[in-house]
Amino acid sequence: MILITGGAGYIGSHTVLNFLKDKYDVVVFDSLETGHIETVEELQKAGNVIFEKGDLRNIEDIERVFEKHSIEAVIHFAAFSLVGESVPNPAKYYRNNTFGTLNLLDTMVKHNVKKIIFSSTCATYGEPQYTPIDEKHPQNPINPYGASKLMVERIMADYDKAYGLKSVKLRYFNVAGCDTQGRVGEWHDPETHLIPNILKSVFGNGQTFKIFGDDYNTPDGTCIRDYVNVEDLAQAHKLAYLWLEKENRSEVFNLGTENGNSVKEVFDTCEKVLNQNIKVEIAPRRPGDPATLFANANKAKSVLNWKPETSLEHSIETAYKFEQKLQNLEKND
Ligand code: UFG
Repeated sequence: MILITGGAGYIGSHTVLNFLKDKYDVVVFDSLETGHIETVEELQKAGNVIFEKGDLRNIEDIERVFEKHSIEAVIHFAAFSLVGESVPNPAKYYRNNTFGTLNLLDTMVKHNVKKIIFSSTCATYGEPQYTPIDEKHPQNPINPYGASKLMVERIMADYDKAYGLKSVKLRYFNVAGCDTQGRVGEWHDPETHLIPNILKSVFGNGQTFKIFGDDYNTPDGTCIRDYVNVEDLAQAHKLAYLWLEKENRSEVFNLGTENGNSVKEVFDTCEKVLNQNIKVEIAPRRPGDPATLFANANKAKSVLNWKPETSLEHSIETAYKFEQKLQNLEKND
């Protein structure tokens, strides 16, 4: 069985669906602190998913899962991921993302499970020294979230040397969109990300959408990011898993589209896809936002044979469909 930690979360749940499509048996391990039981229920409708509720910060929780199930490999998403929150509250991030992962790795070593795919981030690079960013770009994270993930990358390199535990680290850029069938999606509370924030404002959540800064050194003055579709990202996890099964060595890959889109471009695309005008305000810059970030993902393309295929329009359409579902859930609460 494949163990997917954080499988009730955003990227984790889409990856579970991808593995279910190919008839894998999956154990989802999630504390449900930021994941959702409704997501687990959707996954269970789609295939053979055993759900184990637990917290990586308690080693007994994860030990119990390895005792109970015959785990062959791990795909590890479980983490906190709010960059802004990590600055005033670093301990929360180091305890869960770093120490929690150490508990997971130790349990793997103990049970002789030697393969892991790890959800890392372009936040490990910090302020870009050049773009597009390739895997050789220096890693100097500028917030505890990025640092907590970089520490895990280093721990994994050491665990390979010490115990032969092989890891594929996937550094994502900005993730966008939802399951095409609308079963699972991006469901954060609070929501801080660009596309769901634009879409929430359409539903009249009392907040006008704000562009954080239009005075950056970019063609239209707003920040440029690389929005990779979540189903394409899920497929990259499958390819990385198959590659690791075959090659049995540790590697790191960037995952992005290699296309930069500005905040204004994303906003305009939302208006186009929804065929309506959306209210917008210009607000001050958000601290810690670099002007431009986009990936060089050549390595994932050539080694894993990965192709990000989905358009930004499709990501926005699926995100909108899921946002409608969330709005209905909230109404019925
Ligand atoms: N933005 C707005 N208004 C909003 C929300 C976002 O203008 O309401 C802007 C941001 O300022 C930024 C861009 O939209 O310029 C993208 O912001 P997101 O919050 O959607 O994403 P980030 O680029 O900040 O964060 C993403 C991931 C993190 C990861 C980080 C690495 O969500 O997990 O990239 O830089 F760490």
